[in-house]
Amino acid sequence: DGDVFKYYADGEWKKSSSGKSVSIINPTTRKTQYKVQACTQEEVNKAMETAKTAQKSWAKTPLWKRAELLHKAAAILKEHKAPIGECLVKEIAKPAKDAVTEVVRSGDLVSYCAEEGVRILGEGKFLVSDSFPGNERTKYCLTSKIPLGVILAIPPFNYPVNLAVSKIGPALIAGNSIVLKPPTQGAVAALHMVHCFHLAGFPKGLISCITGKGSEIGDFLTMHPGVNCISFTGGDTGIAISKKAGMIPLQMELGGKDACIVLEDADLDLVAANIIKGGFSYSGQRCTAVKVVLVMESVADALVEKVKAKVAKLTVGPPEDNCDITPVVTESSANFIEGLVMDAKQKGATFCQEYKREGNLIWPLLLDHVRPDMRIAWEEPFGPVLPVIRINSVEEGIHHCNASNFGLQGCVFTRDINKAILISDAMETGTVQINSAPARGPDHFPFQGLKDSGIGSQGITNSINMMTKVKSTVINLP
Ligand code: G3P
Repeated sequence: DGDVFKYYADGEWKKSSSGKSVSIINPTTRKTQYKVQACTQEEVNKAMETAKTAQKSWAKTPLWKRAELLHKAAAILKEHKAPIGECLVKEIAKPAKDAVTEVVRSGDLVSYCAEEGVRILGEGKFLVSDSFPGNERTKYCLTSKIPLGVILAIPPFNYPVNLAVSKIGPALIAGNSIVLKPPTQGAVAALHMVHCFHLAGFPKGLISCITGKGSEIGDFLTMHPGVNCISFTGGDTGIAISKKAGMIPLQMELGGKDACIVLEDADLDLVAANIIKGGFSYSGQRCTAVKVVLVMESVADALVEKVKAKVAKLTVGPPEDNCDITPVVTESSANFIEGLVMDAKQKGATFCQEYKREGNLIWPLLLDHVRPDMRIAWEEPFGPVLPVIRINSVEEGIHHCNASNFGLQGCVFTRDINKAILISDAMETGTVQINSAPARGPDHFPFQGLKDSGIGSQGITNSINMMTKVKSTVINLP
């Protein structure tokens, strides 16, 4: 069937022997936009084998050559920002401009991996034995960083390209091979991205992109004995994966309930602007989105008024028109968001706008006077709906933040830097932003979640290090 996008393995584009496909529903039209191959377990086995073989010689390829290929792939990726962006618009309803930005950011990320990799992997350590009691200077220890082997990369729908390359770039520069399982929504954008790596001329089998149903190949991939490391971004599935995975390093980023704590002395215009950007960009479908506002009662009315005025200016509609708010990724996601909204309504939250939904399109909604007994106080809507909880003390805000099972990022707005630092120290999250909305980037910054938000730290440098092991050789002098 010529309409079904082929998967990528062993340096070639292939049809699955299953003869089956997976449909990708356009969130805006709610009709099938694309189809991808439903790969089989046998095809996964083959990809794992070739990944292992290819990795062995890749690890011996000079670092500068690996870097050169990554730079080439980055340039090709950027050249193709328009068609790849187009896929993102159709598959995940990302506003057209943001879709192109995602691809450009991805190219920059890959180049940075190459630059960072040649430096940090280009140096090792030299130790001498006589610093430890009882030793003479008779042992010299040389350490270097060696690759882990085959990295299984599983990115989520919200950044199918960027969160794929944030795993691929570090893995490849460090001498690993990659088996990529893209999300269903976003699979075609991911296949196009992989094509850029193909065009750059990476060795056969070093990168594979396996599409298919999670129910058929999900566990098979994550529990595969050929996998030496899993880098996953997504939701609860990550917790299940980590329980089933073998003795291999895991890098997981699993969502958040990022709090925005607003003190009485905050610049409320700055806060409002950041709440809009942080809470509503890509319709709130970011793990780093502002997901609960914890504002001091004395400034709450003023802040809510300012945010309301800005919400009124958000454009709502199709991603092709670059609207601020676009349809959420699936109907079930829209239903879930609606469930949270209805629960809040029933329990007496104040609706700052009327609730409106057409298909997967949900109009932006600010819910004031949210209380801890409402689901939305704790759950992640992953949609354009933002709860405001009014607090009477900073401690109350910190307590709410820390009572969450998530701990990705958080932010605090105040003009008092001393207070901001103390609050940052008290917040149990991987990152705290002072006077700005949470965000992963710039992409070389460390990015990590505490508690159910993840395992390990990302960001280019940390990912490169995480995808290596230390190897030592000890020279014993007579
Ligand atoms: O939701 C994925 C997470 O990595 C967000 O990235 O760049 O939107 O902060 P960003």
